[in-house]
Amino acid sequence: MTVLDPAAATDASTFTDYLGRHERKSLLRFLTCGSVDDGKSTLIGRLLYDSKLLFEDQLLSLEKDSRKHGTVGDDIDLALLVDGLEAEREQGITIDVAYRFFSTDKRKFIVADTPGHEQYTRNMATGASTSNLAVILIDARRGVLTQTRRHSFIVSLVGIRHVVLAVNKIDLVDFSEAVFGEIVAEYRAFAADLGFETLTAIPLSARYGDNVLERSARLPWYAGPTLVEHLEDVIVDDVAADRPFRLPVQWVNRPNLDFRGFSGTIASGIVRRGDAIVVAKSGRTSTVKSIVTFDGELDAASAGEAVTLTLADEIDISRGDVLSAAADRPEVSDQFVAHLIWMADEPLLPGRPYLLKIGARQVTAQVTAIRHKIDVNTGGELPAKSLALNEVGIANLSLSEPVAFDPYAVNRETGAFIVIDRLSNLTVGAGMIDHGLRRAGNIHWQALDVDKRARALAKGQKPAVVWFTGLSGAGKSTIANLVEKKLTALGRHAYILDGDNVRHGLNRDLGFSDADRVENIRRVAETAKLFVDAGLIVLVSFISPFRAERQLARELVEEGEFVEVFVDTPLDVAEARDPKGLYAKARAGEIARFTGISSPYEAPDRPEIHLDTTSAAADLLAEQVVAHLQEIGIVPGADVTI
Ligand code: ADX
Repeated sequence: MTVLDPAAATDASTFTDYLGRHERKSLLRFLTCGSVDDGKSTLIGRLLYDSKLLFEDQLLSLEKDSRKHGTVGDDIDLALLVDGLEAEREQGITIDVAYRFFSTDKRKFIVADTPGHEQYTRNMATGASTSNLAVILIDARRGVLTQTRRHSFIVSLVGIRHVVLAVNKIDLVDFSEAVFGEIVAEYRAFAADLGFETLTAIPLSARYGDNVLERSARLPWYAGPTLVEHLEDVIVDDVAADRPFRLPVQWVNRPNLDFRGFSGTIASGIVRRGDAIVVAKSGRTSTVKSIVTFDGELDAASAGEAVTLTLADEIDISRGDVLSAAADRPEVSDQFVAHLIWMADEPLLPGRPYLLKIGARQVTAQVTAIRHKIDVNTGGELPAKSLALNEVGIANLSLSEPVAFDPYAVNRETGAFIVIDRLSNLTVGAGMIDHGLRRAGNIHWQALDVDKRARALAKGQKPAVVWFTGLSGAGKSTIANLVEKKLTALGRHAYILDGDNVRHGLNRDLGFSDADRVENIRRVAETAKLFVDAGLIVLVSFISPFRAERQLARELVEEGEFVEVFVDTPLDVAEARDPKGLYAKARAGEIARFTGISSPYEAPDRPEIHLDTTSAAADLLAEQVVAHLQEIGIVPGADVTI
């Protein structure tokens, strides 16, 4: 095999020719999995070094470094190259996956190099989601390890269908055919269920270059391709253009009244002028009038191209909608089952509202159930209530509104989503949709003749949720109780949902783990919403330690119907009061995960009412709440008759 050398192109025509050939070459994106010990850095270094795409000064410093720190005598230690880049990366901007580029005269390559340490799942998933092939490295002396199985599982999970089993360090087992044979047999048996279309095993030595680019004379028994030969020839016909047309609309382009275009990058398929398209969510159809790009109009465009489509009909389309082939539509649902990879230190909490971004659409979503998590070492199923960092599970998700999607197995572009934390705005998970759930579609909201307004009017009030939050022993229930008394005295209709009481019945099954607290608040927030619908003023008195769930409770009711009351009692004061003797027990270690001591409390940022219990008596504070309710018209003022 020869490596293209631009310097060898002496005259202009050869050079143009060179560029032309270079341009037309296909691109293979692949991923390497394995740890530094398996020789991953050395292998990538070898590919870059042998394809001579290193810059001179990098080579010089590499030769110098190898003499200084290298572990391979006088040879160049290729691992230093990759590890050096890694160190550079650690100091600079933190990116989890490094993409390295090299090229031969047959193909161009992008290698996603994912660090093999701790955060392997997350990093691998990131690198793998754009790759079509994975090189799984095995140290010939150690054979198939738990880690090999884990990597293979994730590779399969993200939809990679082509695998190279690189049995490295074959020189350290005397180039043994028997050792190679055993490893390959064991791996094939394990990988039988992972759905790989091609699985090519290659014995090699990254350090000495055997079977990487050049065929090794030291492995005469091996008749297959070298690693690079295989990478050059393997057919990965996972071409996005072959799948049905999908265009997630990034923005609606309306420079003047005569032009209305829908812009975005084609996720899959091909679109031609005159094609029938459908807006998946609304079911509205039209045909493509023109395909506009930066460089002018096109007759057709395919996956990966950024275009603006104009349509023959005026139909309602907004950002986040998916334009699709009319004859081959995506699914539309607000509930689906998905594989989730959790990527945050904070565990996934079912019931907590997160943001879900799929294509160009962003919606609120909750995990309604974790069906099970997956033991990535064995592929086995394990029961789970939440997912921790790097864990993978199968979950049911419920979205605030329907979205268009395809199962990930059918279309990686339209079947994948990310999960974002609403408060920190960080990506906390990645998901792959298995299938939609129709269940939700068959349950419709039952319209009733007497509505919320009528019920409230009959009670002479406006309904509301008055949400008391604060530490245990802060005085929430005491104040809520006084507020109810005062409201009742004013002839109003209120009801208290109290943490301790609700935990005796509806929420009897819940404890005090973060996941249970989230579910505790989700249920009481839904209950409060029903009470508001009943026209009541509902007083909710729960510690409700997490901002995200209080926000959820707020969003369940209409604007102006939610009044957050922060019952602010410092921990030392609540602990000194200790009305139920629970702080003493918590300090003695008899109660686990006690709020303020061994479990967090997130104080509200901007509560409607902030009560300082150290400065006024409970009765006065209750007055303050009632006065606020009168001010905002929930309770008619003393001087108003209704
Ligand atoms: S919440 O955190 O999920 O909102 P909730 O208000 O329902 O809590 O229940 C809190 C009450 O449960 C406390 O007032 C206290 O009486 C009791 N309790 C028992 N164990 C704990 C604990 N580990 N943390 C906090 N409260 C506890």
